[in-house]
Amino acid sequence: MGSRASAEKMANIPLSRSQVFGELRKELHDDKEFHESDAHVFIIMGASFQDGMNSKAGDLAKKKIYPTLWWLFRDGLLPEQTYFVGFARSNLTVDAIRAACMPYLKVADTESERLSAFFQRNTYISGKYDDESSFSKLDTHITSLPGGPDANRLFYLALPPTVYHEVTRNIKHCCMSKKGWNRVIVEKPFGHDLQSSEELSAHLSALFTEEQIYRIDHYLGKEMVQNLMVLRFGNRIFGPIWNRDSVACVVLTFKEPFGTKGRGGYFNDFGIIRDVMQNHLLQMLCLVAMEKPASTSSDDVRDEKVKVLKCIAPVSMSEVVLGQYVGDPEGEGDAKLGYLDDPTVPKGSTQATFATAVLYVHNERWDGVPFILRCGKALNERKAEVRLQFTDVPGDIFGNQCRRNELVVRVQPNEAVYAKMMSKKPGVYFSPEETELDLTYKSRYKDVKLPDAYERLILDVFCGSQMHFVRSDELREAWRIFTPLLHQIDNEKPKPTLYKYGSRGPTEADDLAKRVGFRYEGTYKWVNPHRL
Ligand code: NDP
Ligand code: BG6
Repeated sequence: MGSRASAEKMANIPLSRSQVFGELRKELHDDKEFHESDAHVFIIMGASFQDGMNSKAGDLAKKKIYPTLWWLFRDGLLPEQTYFVGFARSNLTVDAIRAACMPYLKVADTESERLSAFFQRNTYISGKYDDESSFSKLDTHITSLPGGPDANRLFYLALPPTVYHEVTRNIKHCCMSKKGWNRVIVEKPFGHDLQSSEELSAHLSALFTEEQIYRIDHYLGKEMVQNLMVLRFGNRIFGPIWNRDSVACVVLTFKEPFGTKGRGGYFNDFGIIRDVMQNHLLQMLCLVAMEKPASTSSDDVRDEKVKVLKCIAPVSMSEVVLGQYVGDPEGEGDAKLGYLDDPTVPKGSTQATFATAVLYVHNERWDGVPFILRCGKALNERKAEVRLQFTDVPGDIFGNQCRRNELVVRVQPNEAVYAKMMSKKPGVYFSPEETELDLTYKSRYKDVKLPDAYERLILDVFCGSQMHFVRSDELREAWRIFTPLLHQIDNEKPKPTLYKYGSRGPTEADDLAKRVGFRYEGTYKWVNPHRL
């Protein structure tokens, strides 16, 4: 992996568009299939905002995919000859798409001409997902664009899983580029459990090669998630303590301060474990726990992730706490409403909106170290982080005044890496005091604009880099770890512990973390140096 120095370069030195793209390609391992003059067509399957099949799919296209393509186009990061085609069931015009996306595009006053240029590169075709002739029509249209039948084609499936099978089959039969490459970007959920995921994988692998399939877990596109490998393997100071001799536990956290917001229908079919824990948190766990890969090539990295997953036994119900939020009568607005007050949630649902689970990696490095995964909606704050809590200092000479060290990689908001440590209380004293070594991105990298996760990932697909995408064997292992627990929950429907909207979640989750070895002292106070 290169340094992604291009991000800084983009901020400081005006490079021509294809130069920047060329640089990124070099960093992301030269794409042998790429030629400078090649035309590319990006096809958004499910670009509809009106057919109401699944609010998540339409939402994704409008809120994420079109805006991301616009930002990449605006910043000149795409190959010169790139065209965009929307495909869905509704009768839509490009103008209607533009209007629907507008609130999410973040267009500056000076960019309106560029925005028009972007939408001039856009077209839309309506058709049925299960109808081959619709896909032939789509193919005829793509072929009419610059590059003709040989343009490279990227298919983004922003679709509900119910239509994956037929859409991918129709793409394969009717829409493949003749001489250019074809890449298919698949969004989660990748199935519902091990069996359904295996079925989907078997279906996809009968149609496409693994090199053509890009399974997105957008957490792999986040700056600090990508930084985990550099922090671990680019520094001497962490390597020797990154193991069971020094680490007491690892805590991986995802918290959101809002509830399901009308997406309860979709969410209720999945629950927080399938929505966040089995993918986003488990991916972060892999990057924290895996061994150093032989190189930064996509497959070397993913080989190590698979190896570490293979060392994890299925999660046991006895090491899980499930929660569901209820409204806070004293809260404001949405906070008054509980999960069951969402009209799209079935009455009496026992679906979990919060979960804490403890996993163990049974290998030489991690044996006995608990990995505590915590995630929830309608909590007290927005936060995603990785926290390593180190063991007590052996042979204490400071009368029990020292607290455990912690290394925290905060993924969001306000990217930061900080190490909580003891230092002499400044002045005439000689007692230890809690403080931190602090790398806060906003202060250290003032002028660097960090790209959104989707920007990086879509660019990676153009560049042919699969490092930050989920391979099928990785997915299989992830489902193997969670499927027995999920089936038990689906069958037995245990009642989740209720927690108040805006709280830290059920206290039972803190009790579980404590029981397996996490220590919270409540003594650490952070003084933000920028507010002094
Ligand atoms: P804390 O000691 O406050 O929290 C450590 C951990 O303990 C967190 O995971 C927290 O959970 C958990 N915890 C909190 N309350 C309890 C409880 N009652 N029982 C059990 N566990 C509990 O340290 P932090 O590292 O979180 O730092 C404190 C604040 O300072 C944070 O807001 C942090 O962002 C900020 N800070 C910012 C820095 C920066 O921006 N560069 C640098 C250092 C600190 P939970 O995740 O739910 O809170
Ligand atoms: C998605 C989940 O994968 O991630 C959502 O389906 C969640 O429920 C979202 O809100 C969180 O993403 P981010 O990037 O906002 O942390």
